[in-house]
Amino acid sequence: MTEISIGEQRAATGDPLTFRNVLGHFPTGVVLITGIAEDGAPVGMIVGSFTSVSLDPPLVAFLPTVASQTFQRLRTAKAFCVNVLAADQEDLCRRFAGRAADKFDGVPWQPSPLGAPVLDGVVAFIDCTFESINDAGDHHIVIGAVSELQVCRPVAPLLFFQGGYGRFAPLSLSAPFEADLITGVRLAERGRAEIDRLAATLSVECTAMAVISDQMAVNVATAGASDAEARLGERIPLMPPWGELCVAWEDAAAVDQWLSRALPSDECTQEQYRERLEAVRRRGWSLTMRGDYRDERIIEALREYSSGGYTPAQERDIREIISRTSSSYAPVTLEPGQTYDVDSLLAPVFDAAGKVRLVLRIANLPSSAPAERILAWAEELLAAARTLGAAAGSQP
Ligand SMILES: Cc1cc2nc3c(=O)[nH]c(=O)nc-3n(C[C@H](O)[C@H](O)[C@H](O)COP(=O)(O)O)c2cc1C
Repeated sequence: MTEISIGEQRAATGDPLTFRNVLGHFPTGVVLITGIAEDGAPVGMIVGSFTSVSLDPPLVAFLPTVASQTFQRLRTAKAFCVNVLAADQEDLCRRFAGRAADKFDGVPWQPSPLGAPVLDGVVAFIDCTFESINDAGDHHIVIGAVSELQVCRPVAPLLFFQGGYGRFAPLSLSAPFEADLITGVRLAERGRAEIDRLAATLSVECTAMAVISDQMAVNVATAGASDAEARLGERIPLMPPWGELCVAWEDAAAVDQWLSRALPSDECTQEQYRERLEAVRRRGWSLTMRGDYRDERIIEALREYSSGGYTPAQERDIREIISRTSSSYAPVTLEPGQTYDVDSLLAPVFDAAGKVRLVLRIANLPSSAPAERILAWAEELLAAARTLGAAAGSQP
């Protein structure tokens, strides 16, 4: 028996329990391999051992156990199809991982180009012919020659880890946030009357966003908006130009973190955003102008982001969309007598330690407003932010 010694730990590689335990620390994707057996019936088995093998020629592989009855039938098929399961297909996975004879009953599927079942709702399928089947211990190594492949539904895939199912969550732009969220919700709740008053007296939409770590803000209170309830809990990723007020008073490391998320990712862009932060800090509040980007696409991106179930590809899309709003955030000097098409005004709410806990935002402002009127709105907004801040200061 081979023994590996690392520091104090010694693991016997011949012990099946240790083998399972250690390899259980490695996550896998989950695919359903399907085919039409020689008797004409569809067969399918769940496999975590799927991998791509070669690009040229295109080959993939999976490893069925030699004891698998399903594979004994599957290998009589002319072709097999790899169905990449989505995160919301755990039930389907459990069903096909079982031994029931009627696994396909009531499960909607279409034949792949080679005739194997492609289940409705899968992320992607990879249609293959059998290239080779080799033995490897108590498993076979099945190599498939890829014939056709397609992404059907670009959503987060189902993952398997230590005996449980889960989904992928990108580390960037997301964060564990419960403690900060609760602090923010409580603060907004204390300032509820002020938020309502501001929305009513100015006839605008007023929201309070709680700053959650250096990654995101969450909409914790909304007044004066027709879709107020739906927008509660909306997450706002902090990447330039979004989240200026959340980071403007933070230390250099936090500012650099924020700047590092800017797109395009060149130094010149970062320098521009750094200057904007300076301007925001000096002014003590900020404004955004009505942009030429499409609002619905932003709302959709925020919905995707807020669901928490977005894929890395979707995250790249979201970042791209946010970066396109940059021109609306460019600092504007309000000249007396001029009118401006302001979209929203934002003000920070500091806690007793001088940390920005909430960002108060008024939006849906009348178009073409004179500079004097905008400054008057800003005064009202800052006064409300101070009232909310006083509540934060009274925290123990
Ligand atoms: C997440 C997951 C991953 C699995 N991966 C494999 C695998 O890579 N190879 C394999 O032979 N069985 C694997 N199985 C087990 C089979 O899906 C399934 O239990 C088996 O096909 C049913 O037994 P039978 O083939 O003897 O009917 C996996 C099961 C689950 C739930």
